[in-house]
Amino acid sequence: MSRVSDTLKQEVIAWRRHLHEYPELSFQEYETSEFVYQQLRRMSGLEVTRPTKTSVLAVLIGKGQALEKPLTIAFRADMDALPIQEETDIPFASKNSGIMHACGHDAHTAMLLGAAKALSERADEICGEIRFIFQHAEESPPGGAIELVEKGVVESVDYAFALHVTPYEQAGTICIREGVLCASNDDFEIKVIGHGGHASTPERTIDPLMVGVEIASNLQHIVSRKLPALHAPVVSVTKFNGGSALNIIPDTVELGGTIRALDADIRTKAKNYVNQIVKGITEAHGASYETTWHEGYASVVNSVDAVAISREVAESIFGKDHVIQVEEPLFGGEDFSAISQQVPASLQFIGVHNPEFGEAFPLHHPKFKIEEDALQYGVDYFVGIAKKLCFQ
Ligand code: NI
Repeated sequence: MSRVSDTLKQEVIAWRRHLHEYPELSFQEYETSEFVYQQLRRMSGLEVTRPTKTSVLAVLIGKGQALEKPLTIAFRADMDALPIQEETDIPFASKNSGIMHACGHDAHTAMLLGAAKALSERADEICGEIRFIFQHAEESPPGGAIELVEKGVVESVDYAFALHVTPYEQAGTICIREGVLCASNDDFEIKVIGHGGHASTPERTIDPLMVGVEIASNLQHIVSRKLPALHAPVVSVTKFNGGSALNIIPDTVELGGTIRALDADIRTKAKNYVNQIVKGITEAHGASYETTWHEGYASVVNSVDAVAISREVAESIFGKDHVIQVEEPLFGGEDFSAISQQVPASLQFIGVHNPEFGEAFPLHHPKFKIEEDALQYGVDYFVGIAKKLCFQ
């Protein structure tokens, strides 16, 4: 049973709809962060600041009688949207052409605003400190989280928590996992530089296409032959461009892709193997190369202690039957890792599907949709954690 009042529930939905209508891209969340800032300023007892141009931090210092050792906890919501043209039928669809909240960050922000409001009204019962982190730029490495960590937003924090929506489970459920949750995500681009010429005389050329094909194929050896099966990363070549005519061997081809790894050591080894394979194959064929790396996020590792708190609170809010154990880590990336590397942290997934939607369109899809009834549970979850750790 939800504990959120009807008024707050409606307010959270209204916030979410406003944010959904006016999405902004990573590092450009000017109106979004201003909106969040203004809402927080209206709540009593919050110290509201702007750690960076497009992020907001609200701090609630409890006025309750101090426990022996009051805790400092942090809740994080991300606020950025994606370069996607929305294709849903909802009445509050994006008004910003080509930009959409297709990853549910509008819901994350609205839920955390709801929790801030509910908790700010109960400062008298709270001991210690609660930080509400409204983070910019989750979708675009190097990400907003690392900037905020560098600004000190999680300094002396005992535990940090966050929620991400999932369209694969129904509203009223939560998915929980301890340990490794998400993979690191590093992207690469490789330019193979050969020497083009007439297709009829390949012996007079250095054919970059054939070299590129060798590279693409050999990169799969990283997964199948270089690293232990139980720790194998994902190596996907997702781009291969070259050539302009059927009778010309081109000068160059470009390929690119991504590496997703669940631990730091495998991440480093996989990257080194990519570099080694590119160098070896191009040299063997007399070609040269340029490799560009786009470093992504480290993998998110959920602390056992923080997850124990999440689980206990989730069971009381969602009911034991609606707490779903996540058996396998996911190979998507999340910049919450910048926080989970600093303090014991727990990022979990809240169900937002409604069977009436029909197909559950994935995150980052133009038809991705959220059942707003889920939002109250998210508010309850944050409030429940605060009650467990910071109430008298
Ligand atoms: Ni996301």
